[in-house]
Amino acid sequence: MRKTFPIVIGLHLLIAINCQTLPSNIKKCRFGDSKCIVGSMNAVIRQYSRGLSAIGMRPIDVVGIEDSNVWNNAQIGGAWFQFKLFNQANYGFENTTVKRIRGFGKDPTATIMEIHGQIPSLIHKGNYVAKGRVWMVALNATGSSTSDFQNLRFILKLKVIPEYRNNKRYLKIYELVPVVNISRWIVWLDNLFPENMDLTIAINELLNANWLEFWNELEPAFLNIFSGVFTSMITDTFEKISYDDMFLKDNETESSN
Ligand SMILES: *[C@@H]1O[C@H](CO)[C@@H](O)[C@H](O)[C@H]1NC(C)=O
Ligand SMILES: *[C@@H]1O[C@H](CO)[C@@H](O)[C@H](O)[C@H]1NC(C)=O
Ligand SMILES: *[C@@H]1O[C@H](CO)[C@@H](O)[C@H](O)[C@H]1NC(C)=O
Ligand SMILES: *[C@@H]1O[C@H](CO)[C@@H](O)[C@H](O)[C@H]1NC(C)=O
Repeated sequence: MRKTFPIVIGLHLLIAINCQTLPSNIKKCRFGDSKCIVGSMNAVIRQYSRGLSAIGMRPIDVVGIEDSNVWNNAQIGGAWFQFKLFNQANYGFENTTVKRIRGFGKDPTATIMEIHGQIPSLIHKGNYVAKGRVWMVALNATGSSTSDFQNLRFILKLKVIPEYRNNKRYLKIYELVPVVNISRWIVWLDNLFPENMDLTIAINELLNANWLEFWNELEPAFLNIFSGVFTSMITDTFEKISYDDMFLKDNETESSN
């Protein structure tokens, strides 16, 4: 009899480690109840912008991203330049509103999952290095850049596969495709021409007047950044909380949560 003791303790530990359940203040919904799921997602975003480790959610009020070559020798209208960004952070994900979802049914693989949402203003800050020519003017500058992506609308399409742990399904994302639209991009690159503030202002004004051309060029790089941010947000939660524990059981009612 004694010998089974360590095994029992081991089992308890295993259960304690693996039984991550949704904190009770997060509203559980029935599988596929889109309206309820949208409401619950929005409540989590509003309440836990600083992150919630119990569900593996990192802070979303400040989201750091990896260094990137945004434009490598981009040729856009009258501009030609290399542009690199580093020390980057995004602000404003905490103001995301989820508008619509699809999928999230009992069988998460039955349909592609979709999350449609909107961010009123996504602010990107970073340091830049730029070299090249813009509208006939030679450029060789480093400074800080601030961008405001206004009225950003997105659709995330995700495909998942279930993995079984303790007879529960944990979801792994194997594909996440974002689609993003913005209404306007406002950008300010400081210190473009350290000795010539008038020229710095004039070139920034030209960039802003032609924002759509630059956005079209930037979009693939931006989508990469965006899908990285969302993949890590969703992956961490799917890793920590089993899909089965995110929803009400058939015999459970909302009030019992
Ligand atoms: C998010 O919304 C709050 C409240 O409306 C606002 O004060 C804040 O500036 C917004 N954040 C960003 C980065 O726009
Ligand atoms: C660009 O600026 C850096 C630092 O100010 C300088 O070392 C470099 O020689 C410049 N390059 C060109 C092509 O002017
Ligand atoms: C982006 O805009 C296009 C055209 O207006 C529209 O068809 C598409 O659904 C929009 N995508 C998102 C993510 O809002
Ligand atoms: C609900 O059903 C699960 C199995 O699906 C069972 O383990 C649990 O005891 C049931 N709860 C109630 C309150 O009937």
